[in-house]
Amino acid sequence: MRSMLIVATLGSAVALPVAAQQASDVLEPEIAVALPDAFSGLSEPARAAWAAREAGQPVQAERWMVAAANPMAVEVGAEVLRAGGSAADAMVAVQAVLGLVEPQSSGLGGGAFLVWYDAATGEVTTLDGRETAPMAATPRLFQTEEGEPLPFWDAVVGGLSVGTPGTPALMEAAHRRWGQANWADLLAPAIRLAEMGFAVSPRLAGQIAGDEERLTRYPATAAYFWPDGAPLEVGALRRNPDYAETLRILAAEGAAGFYRGPVAEDIVAAVRSAEGNPGLLSLDDLARYRVVERPPVCIDYRGAEVCGMGPPSSGAITIAQILGKLAQFDLPAMDPDAPDTWRLIGDATRLAFADRGRYIADSDFVPVPVQGMTAPGYLASRAELLGRDDALPEVAPGLPEFDHALMRASDTDPERPATSHISIVDAAGNALSMTTTIESGFGARLFVRGFLLNNELTDFSFRSHADGWPIANRAEPGKRPRSSMSPTIVLRDGAPVVVTGSPGGAPIISYTANSLIAHLDWGLDVQTAIDRPHLVNAFGTYILEEGTAAEALAEPLEAMGFTVRLGARTSGLQMIAIGPDGLSGGADRRREGIALGE
Ligand code: GLY
Repeated sequence: MRSMLIVATLGSAVALPVAAQQASDVLEPEIAVALPDAFSGLSEPARAAWAAREAGQPVQAERWMVAAANPMAVEVGAEVLRAGGSAADAMVAVQAVLGLVEPQSSGLGGGAFLVWYDAATGEVTTLDGRETAPMAATPRLFQTEEGEPLPFWDAVVGGLSVGTPGTPALMEAAHRRWGQANWADLLAPAIRLAEMGFAVSPRLAGQIAGDEERLTRYPATAAYFWPDGAPLEVGALRRNPDYAETLRILAAEGAAGFYRGPVAEDIVAAVRSAEGNPGLLSLDDLARYRVVERPPVCIDYRGAEVCGMGPPSSGAITIAQILGKLAQFDLPAMDPDAPDTWRLIGDATRLAFADRGRYIADSDFVPVPVQGMTAPGYLASRAELLGRDDALPEVAPGLPEFDHALMRASDTDPERPATSHISIVDAAGNALSMTTTIESGFGARLFVRGFLLNNELTDFSFRSHADGWPIANRAEPGKRPRSSMSPTIVLRDGAPVVVTGSPGGAPIISYTANSLIAHLDWGLDVQTAIDRPHLVNAFGTYILEEGTAAEALAEPLEAMGFTVRLGARTSGLQMIAIGPDGLSGGADRRREGIALGE
């Protein structure tokens, strides 16, 4: 890959407390300051935004900002905001382009959760655009005849894992409520780019090359990603006229043009005829799809209100549990690089994940004790378990107050590390945080009308029962699989101060919680908070981000009794802070996003 070195010229980092500055010096990963050729057509401001993130500096702005996983998508969102569009308008434009240039992570064939802060009313609203299981699905969806779970990848590739997509309906629902711009105009840039062609990015090319066997199993998918038997290369110009045509239908007919008629018929045909692994999706499943408004889940954390998406996402409850327990300790006074700090955060996370596995699923199907799980008294009692010097030898779910005498078994199925995140603040002060996915990279590997279909149903537990009790997150007809997606807006005195979220499967929860701790408790600016090496312990093994200074904590954490492993932790945090001096944005160097504002 040829790449052009550019020098960071943008802005300067927010002044940090000395301790925080030293912490970032110690733990900052080293990544080259390079703009891939695939992005050589970017505007000057976008190039400067790339340079800023590579230099570890946040981007500053006065009025509006957008951060997402691909600079081409961010530029389109910026155009909308510059022209006076709302954050919802910009999201529609950004998501339409992401579905083209980052098709492996999100798109029309997937689902998403959206958190909205309304500047006019001061209210936080959450919209659930999660995929649904077909009405023909049963709790044994991913089991053999003998009732044993299918091997994971046997379930993913093909039609069986495909849920009814929610993203087109969510785009429309958000635009109807909060949009100001013309719907069709918002889709026009993605249509143009699909027709003219876009340059394949390094990350997309790498993922295509690494997924040959699965991506070439179905002819339409192979023809798009492996044309003539070779993977699309970095910088290759890729046209996608089918995607342009689908977007034209959406532009003319709204989401109805997706959920009924020829597009729906093609989706159902692809799912039901997937050779070797046909699925159950029907035209009726698509026609009955609805976005659901859910109550936001908010907790007080040291005077800030942290709000996010409730069930079927486990994101906000689990983050609330982690932070609620840590609020019992003087984390702001603790050394961000000390083993004991990470003992505390790691075990707070393990305890939260134990509750998650026992209690959280789609609350339309299974009662979820949201209030009990986030009650300060309950979290204080769970935090007492952390008052020790070494790792918890055992971690079990607690007993939150619960008005349903319902027994169920735990599951520890993790979601996979694909997905994408969009954070936006518009000139009117509205804020939007949306995490969007087709589940694993390239989803079910079924390519229909220019987009990939999700494999979201494999976010259900493959086992339906354990120890004689039902598992909350088992598949059921019409149910939405549990998610880890954690779109988050933090408020102070009723006004937003942070808009954030990340892709990355189950570790999304840690990426989001830990970067909030770095920013809110340790005073790090958003880019430095994102850049800190990851230490993630959800299910018992402490995974330290390899190649970073986090490796230095391996020995002390092992000495405390943790099982430790080094590994890649590819977050994609997009974080915007809103302060008295304006907006400050960061994008994750582990992926290809930027934050851009004016
Ligand atoms: N499929 C990723 C998630 O929902 O967490």
